[in-house]
Amino acid sequence: MSTLSLATAAPAISLETPADIVQREALLDLAFGRAARLAKTSERLREGRKPANGLAFASHGPDGRVVATLRLWHVTAGPGRPALLLGPLAVHPWFRDRGLGAALMNTAICEATRLGHGAILLVGDAPYYARFGFDVGLTEALWLPGAFDRSRFLGLELSPGALKGARGLVSPTGAPVELPSLGELVAQGGTGELRRSA
Ligand SMILES: CC(C)(COP(=O)(O)OP(=O)(O)OC[C@H]1O[C@@H](n2cnc3c(N)ncnc32)[C@H](O)[C@@H]1OP(=O)(O)O)[C@@H](O)C(=O)NCCC(=O)NCCS
Repeated sequence: MSTLSLATAAPAISLETPADIVQREALLDLAFGRAARLAKTSERLREGRKPANGLAFASHGPDGRVVATLRLWHVTAGPGRPALLLGPLAVHPWFRDRGLGAALMNTAICEATRLGHGAILLVGDAPYYARFGFDVGLTEALWLPGAFDRSRFLGLELSPGALKGARGLVSPTGAPVELPSLGELVAQGGTGELRRSA
């Protein structure tokens, strides 16, 4: 598993691997509640899509279990304006308040910048995300495909002006998740569960 180096002394953060998926989903259920998280409007921009390449992160506890997760997704912030959607971010309750959430956020922002992305959008608690530079003013003319609280719809420019004049509906643009064929399901003995992407 590749481990990203981080300037600060922070818990190790890795790129997520397929082996992390089941534990990541359980962590998200614990943090948000399954029904509630799958009902979020942000989920409409993630479902059936793969996260952006190199921008799905996990952190593991001493026993190797996933204790924190953060992924970013390709969207367009109005017509012709590529951006990333950040989330969900979750840290296991036992591992909170020791900088892991901030380490994930800083890693994600650094990596997204390094990979050439221009802007990040998210829906979340402004008092938490403001420390990373997220601002409600950058999303004023943007809309999401469902109900949302505008005071929680935030943006961050990774390159100056990337969200200047951004207007319209945010839409998903990520690659679709490949679903197994009927033949592959039969080969799995009919017990294979189709996993959601987020
Ligand atoms: C939000 C969350 C990811 C923070 O993770 P963490 O590893 O505890 O974060 P850090 O250690 O980097 O930062 C802790 C600081 O953030 C503050 N903080 C945590 N959640 C906050 C929130 N929702 N709003 C404002 N501040 C928050 C803490 O009070 C603490 O403040 P301090 O530095 O002044 O003591 C974690 O609490 C979590 O998983 N919560 C449940 C899921 C969730 O709400 N995800 C984010 C959706 S908006």
